Amino acid sequence: MSGQVCVSDFEEEARKILPKAVYDYYRSGADEQHTLVNNVAAFNRWHLIPRVLRDVSTVDLSVSVLGQKLNMPLCVAATAMQRMAHPEGEMATARACHAVGTGMMLSSWATSTIEEVTSAMTSSPGGRGVLWLQLYIYKDRELTLSLVRRAEAAGYKAIFVTVDTPYLGKRCDDMRNHFKLPPHLSMSNFSTAALAFSEGNYGSDSGLAVYVAKAIDPTLCWDDINWLKKKTNLPVIVKGILNGMDAVQAVNYGVDGILVSNHGARQLDGVPATLDVLEEVVKAVQGRCDVYLDGGVRRGTDVLKALALGAKAVFIGRPVLWGLACQGEQGVTKLLELLKEELRLAMALSGCRSLSEVSRSLVRRAEFTSRI
Ligand code: FNR
Ligand code: LAC
Repeated sequence: MSGQVCVSDFEEEARKILPKAVYDYYRSGADEQHTLVNNVAAFNRWHLIPRVLRDVSTVDLSVSVLGQKLNMPLCVAATAMQRMAHPEGEMATARACHAVGTGMMLSSWATSTIEEVTSAMTSSPGGRGVLWLQLYIYKDRELTLSLVRRAEAAGYKAIFVTVDTPYLGKRCDDMRNHFKLPPHLSMSNFSTAALAFSEGNYGSDSGLAVYVAKAIDPTLCWDDINWLKKKTNLPVIVKGILNGMDAVQAVNYGVDGILVSNHGARQLDGVPATLDVLEEVVKAVQGRCDVYLDGGVRRGTDVLKALALGAKAVFIGRPVLWGLACQGEQGVTKLLELLKEELRLAMALSGCRSLSEVSRSLVRRAEFTSRI
């Protein structure tokens, strides 16, 4: 592996390695991709205000997420169909998370089974990885519940239910490429070809958009969150909240956590960057559940800014796919270690020795800073 020193090095390399339709699917946002750009740019609209002379010779990055101790507050978000990036796909990602000591959210639409991913994670000794299941709610509720039951049996520690995808967002590249899975792969958690998104004839549209319209339930509403909470003892986190009103609803429905997410800008284009709505959500929640963030996190300083604005931990989506494409498990491990080291350095240079010292006063909107 050549010497990648930051996330964008991995992306550049991955772009050269991956087939065009796969790279396009992984990279794309919805419509004009305004939010895609904004998710990343938002981090530059906040400045860090460091404190000095605080003995930062040791920095503790450990955190507790949904009752599990992790080595860092940076976790892996669900991204579908990882075996398009590398033959070992989700299993490689799980092993890397275990080695680094962080959490992995497995997509419902993984190309490895829920059980295979558990075995991959637990087979390597000495690590501290945690698995969570990302859940899409199907029109078929029994099928949906069977995924939850399998996750419970396989030792997953929480369910992240995605609430921003009643239909798939419009991704122009996928439409142009008639995106579908290569024939040797399928969504491994489903036994019928129709539900495994394999082999079917999806016409000239994005195959995935056609699949979602057929299988996923657009009638989803808050009562379904109630239903899910009643059916499982695992913590339930809603993934895809973007404002204080929905955050209050989520708390009222008893969720165990909120993931502020715009689905990596792949659903509704024109929504704000997640970082720019984080504080509104944190204020609305008033400490009644944990708040997490994903979208555009590419640097250790990005992680630090999100934590200062109230996130308990953050998640990354695309960077993991770039790591996987470059060198499977080793690539993801290197990428996660690199971000961990960037975060450690950012904390030290800001005068923070542990996450409890990361507070709101560490960040300021850029326009206020420049006026001073
Ligand atoms: C995703 N995301 C996603 N979310 C989800 O709930 N279920 C899924 O199966 C997927 N699949 C998926 C595939 C790909 C290729 C991408 C890029 C994203 C969204 C994901 O969990 C997360 O919200 C974003 O990826 C975070 O943004 P960044 O880090 O990619 O900017
Ligand atoms: C996506 C789906 C899988 O964003 O969530 O492509």
